[in-house]
Amino acid sequence: MSPLDLVAAKRMVGCRAAEEVRDGMVVGLGTGSTVFFAIERLGERIAKEGLSIAGVPTSYQAAMRARRYGVLLTDLDEHPELDLAIDGADQVDPRFRLVKGRGAALLREKCVCDAAREVLIVVDPSKMVERLDAPVPVEVLPFAAGSVSRRLEALGADPVLREGVRKDGPVITDNGNFIIDCNFGPVTNPDRLEAEMISIPGVIECGLFSAYGEKITVILGDGDGCRVLSLR
Ligand code: A5P
Repeated sequence: MSPLDLVAAKRMVGCRAAEEVRDGMVVGLGTGSTVFFAIERLGERIAKEGLSIAGVPTSYQAAMRARRYGVLLTDLDEHPELDLAIDGADQVDPRFRLVKGRGAALLREKCVCDAAREVLIVVDPSKMVERLDAPVPVEVLPFAAGSVSRRLEALGADPVLREGVRKDGPVITDNGNFIIDCNFGPVTNPDRLEAEMISIPGVIECGLFSAYGEKITVILGDGDGCRVLSLR
């Protein structure tokens, strides 16, 4: 897919997801270049249709985009249960288990995914895989980065501390933590690996989302059209 086609695909699925939002909903707003188009389309619907919604942003990026497009913001204290969440993913397997966190927003994304009754995952076809094999980002307490790295290595990863771009030193997440990217190769048992990683003291969250397949709907677009996929 050419870069232009890819942008068209992202726009198509983002806009399609925004059409699922109904008046009065509280919506989790994911992070990344695909959700960008969903937030933009929500802004259009607010302006043109008078759609009344509130959004829970998963990052500074999502919050800034939402404000720019006129989406009222709220949080999980005000709304511990969300009607819907819209988010992207780095990979999706046939049971709708995900790798997320390329943009380092995985911690709040998982909180929002967990709080939502329904989750729309917006992706282009390159994200659909038979087996998850992308590096799994892990959000780590800086104090424990060294000991956590050793434990992740023992699980079979090749842990790499994520470095900033146009910033010297490590990436600092919106929550003040480090990200360690863990290449495991093909992941044979995502459920078990997720449980093992999050049990390590100092790991705050990991980018494997293996428990949400039943409430996920995948909106897959290639620029020519969208397919809506569900396990239900
Ligand atoms: C943010 O940390 C990620 O989980 C993104 O949701 C994911 O990387 C998808 O981003 P794109 O839509 O930009 O590919």
